[in-house]
Amino acid sequence: MRVLLLGSGGREHALAWKMAQSSILEALFIAPGNAGTRQHGVNLNISASDFHEIKHAVLKHSIDVVVVGPEDPLVKGIVDFFQSDDELSKVAVIGPNKVASQLEGSKDFAKEFMQRHNIPTAKYATFTKDKLEEGYKFLESMKAPYVLKADGLAAGKGVLIINDLNEAKNELKNMLADAKFGDASSRVVIEKFLDGVELSCFVITDGDSYKILPEAKDYKRIGEADTGLNTGGMGAVSPVPFANPTFKDKIKNQIIIPTIKGLKSEEIEYKGFIFFGLINVKNEPYVIEYNCRMGDPETEVVMPRLKSDILDLFEGVATNTLSERDVQFDERSAATVMMVSGGYPEAYEKGKKIYGLNNISESMVFHAGTIADGPVVETAGGRVLAVTSLGKDLETALKRSYSSLDKIDFEKANYRKDIGFDVL
Ligand code: AMP
Ligand code: GLY
Repeated sequence: MRVLLLGSGGREHALAWKMAQSSILEALFIAPGNAGTRQHGVNLNISASDFHEIKHAVLKHSIDVVVVGPEDPLVKGIVDFFQSDDELSKVAVIGPNKVASQLEGSKDFAKEFMQRHNIPTAKYATFTKDKLEEGYKFLESMKAPYVLKADGLAAGKGVLIINDLNEAKNELKNMLADAKFGDASSRVVIEKFLDGVELSCFVITDGDSYKILPEAKDYKRIGEADTGLNTGGMGAVSPVPFANPTFKDKIKNQIIIPTIKGLKSEEIEYKGFIFFGLINVKNEPYVIEYNCRMGDPETEVVMPRLKSDILDLFEGVATNTLSERDVQFDERSAATVMMVSGGYPEAYEKGKKIYGLNNISESMVFHAGTIADGPVVETAGGRVLAVTSLGKDLETALKRSYSSLDKIDFEKANYRKDIGFDVL
């Protein structure tokens, strides 16, 4: 199989690492990739959202399968682009089409979908600019904290959780009338605040059958004990101890099956990963959000726990034969800790030389924001490296990652010292 993987983060390095272990891989290209992905394939200097350049690369390198890492190309319709192009229509794309990607691309679409299929989620209402007054009234009818969500993609910044009613009204106005998040906030979902612990669940589907992948817990805040600003994710663990068999059955029966069946009954063709962002409220799972891709940094703990050949699963997705494929997991625990640039998630510097990458034996170092200049690897983003380890239990896995982190350095490097603290 000749594969082109789109994206450039830690998720993509973990996917590339996993695909490189497949017995059916003939060639792997990554667009644009990073200094880590080049260990497993050939990086192409093409943006993951430049469909015309991607087409050119697919034809030039005789690609059979395109694996889409991030949401942006999916929400922009890369699957539809391939299906409507005579030269590309035989190339399989692992990822949902434009309509199906609305599960992530539009919060309102996702909420309506959940409502139609009785999938547990927070009570909500959606407002547009001309309904601002009604939005104020809706806020007045609710209790703090107030949850405001820009309908469209806003680079992970579109959700505001506000304690003060007047501030919430003001932000609603900023989003709707003053386009705080541009077009993404031309509609705003206001929903009930759910109090609980979050977890991420993943499914791969060919549209008919599905396989559940290991769950994970992501640590989103920059500061220890979950304080400070939100980030893309500072670390992750898998499995998640509170996700016991009873809770997982609820997730499967109340959320996963109704989602797959709901998509099928509405004739929304969905092929690829579904990421269920869930919250556990008094032992009941609720959907906080859907994503149409894998999570980052969750992928960096899920892929190491997947024993099966991922290209075999992708082939199952492409040919509608996923039900015939076998999926096996490693019983061990996995933990990943993100090493980030000083200052992140606010302003930070790039181009710092990274030392010690060759000294690591007990962990896998997945590159997130790195660039290679010959043998020299430099920082090129806020999140720089995800240091992942396996262990007989979470404690062992975490110990390994932290001892590996001690051996890696770059100027102003930062990482959370307490990943997994709450579930140990
Ligand atoms: P989202 O982009 O929808 O995942 O939201 C970002 C984050 O906001 C989530 O990971 C949660 O921590 C938080 N959040 C979103 N919706 C709610 C809600 N209804 N209740 C409590 N927290 C929420
Ligand atoms: N780690 C959360 C996400 O990928 O959206």
